[in-house]
Amino acid sequence: MLDLTLAVLHHLTILSLILIVGAELALTRGELTAAVVRRLASIDLYYGIVAGLIVAIGAARVVLGAKGWVFYLHNPWFFAKIGTFLIVGVLSIHPTMMFLRWRRAATADPAFTPPPAAATTVRRAILVEAVLLGLIVAFAAAMARFGSF
Ligand code: HEM
Repeated sequence: MLDLTLAVLHHLTILSLILIVGAELALTRGELTAAVVRRLASIDLYYGIVAGLIVAIGAARVVLGAKGWVFYLHNPWFFAKIGTFLIVGVLSIHPTMMFLRWRRAATADPAFTPPPAAATTVRRAILVEAVLLGLIVAFAAAMARFGSF
């Protein structure tokens, strides 16, 4: 029952992260008005919370899951998955910093809009995150089925 509960929670938090990244991609596609900038900054707060939950629940699955932690310790797909997740985490820092900076600027000046070059860089980072999330899901499926390459 614990294994099932952790699996369900893991899938729900992953779905939430994918929806958040999708929302950030959609919002950064259009005109970045002060209202959109504020929405991006608040959505991005949930990004951090959900990512933390994914790690906590994922770690619980490694330690308390039905297969036991040894299955993962020697599982290269597990490390490929975690490594890619870390890259996604690092990639998400720049958009977060920009959203917070833009929100401050929009609070000071309601007519503020982000410089187009900065908006393009942020959107490109989020796009790469989305592609890597797809890769993580593929690694996860391999990890669950193969203990080695
Ligand atoms: C965005 C990040 C992540 C995504 C998209 C993701 C995705 C998935 C998916 C789709 C599965 C089900 C695989 C299957 O049964 O076919 C899974 C299982 C699992 N994930 Fe994650 N995961 C993520 C992060 C993590 C992290 C950070 C950890 C550990 C710290 C972790 C540990 C596990 C474990 C232990 C399983 C069970 C695999 C098994 O049944 O043997 N995951 N993950």
